Amino acid sequence: MSFGLSRGKPLDISGYGLTGDDLPPLPDDLLQNPEKAWVDPRQWFEHPDRPFELEIGSGKGTFLAQQAGLQPETNFLGIEWAREFFSYAADRMRRNRTENVRMLHFDASEFVRWRVPTGIVKVLHLYFADPWPKPRHHKRRMVQDQFLAEAFRVIQPGGELRVVTDHADYWSWMEEHFARWCDPAHQWQGKTMFYERHDFERPASAGEGEVVGTNFERKYIAEGRTFNAAILVRPAGLDLA
Ligand SMILES: C[S@@+](CC[C@H](N)C(=O)[O-])C[C@H]1O[C@@H](n2cnc3c(N)ncnc32)[C@H](O)[C@@H]1O
Repeated sequence: MSFGLSRGKPLDISGYGLTGDDLPPLPDDLLQNPEKAWVDPRQWFEHPDRPFELEIGSGKGTFLAQQAGLQPETNFLGIEWAREFFSYAADRMRRNRTENVRMLHFDASEFVRWRVPTGIVKVLHLYFADPWPKPRHHKRRMVQDQFLAEAFRVIQPGGELRVVTDHADYWSWMEEHFARWCDPAHQWQGKTMFYERHDFERPASAGEGEVVGTNFERKYIAEGRTFNAAILVRPAGLDLA
């Protein structure tokens, strides 16, 4: 049990929250045989055969709580590194009996890189990721070449990466990365690998005047901030082999 954000009421993550302890140890030959480290997060749901979407940095789980209700036949996994937010979101899904959401307390870049099997994610959501504004911290930003390569690997052909940010400098950084990664001639480790860029479409759960409707977005709207957003699609006909 934990308290924190619950204002005195105990938080109960049972049945809805997973942690690193629920993952098997990494194999000694990880670099030679990365598939041995894979876990299939679709098996954490009652209906593992359903479409699978992943949100990185879910915070209190507001987007998931709203959108999962409108897409009951899709399974959603939220990954959140801050224990308080993770516990709050997992408890929230349990209280609301949101059967198609699970929360994972883990580093999302590590999870996507080492644990997620190839081609299982229909949509990868990244909303208001930490901007790490100081140049010496830019390497901590989620959007990096390595991340875009791993996202490409785990997203199924025709699936997509959805990104929204309020931070102008982080957006310029993303634009620079997206320009390279959306060039059909782009290569990564000797393979042709590129996304198709599309305008952002608001999810059905977004409220009036909202882009997605997360907690941070609501706070930033109140502060008068503006937002930038994009969708990168993994082309349906582009295989990694
Ligand atoms: C600015 S908040 C946005 C939260 C939520 N998406 C929203 O819009 O309300 C960024 C969140 O990402 C989480 N986060 C940052 N790096 C992470 C990582 N490597 N893995 C998982 N979560 C991460 C932070 O703990 C924080 O909750």
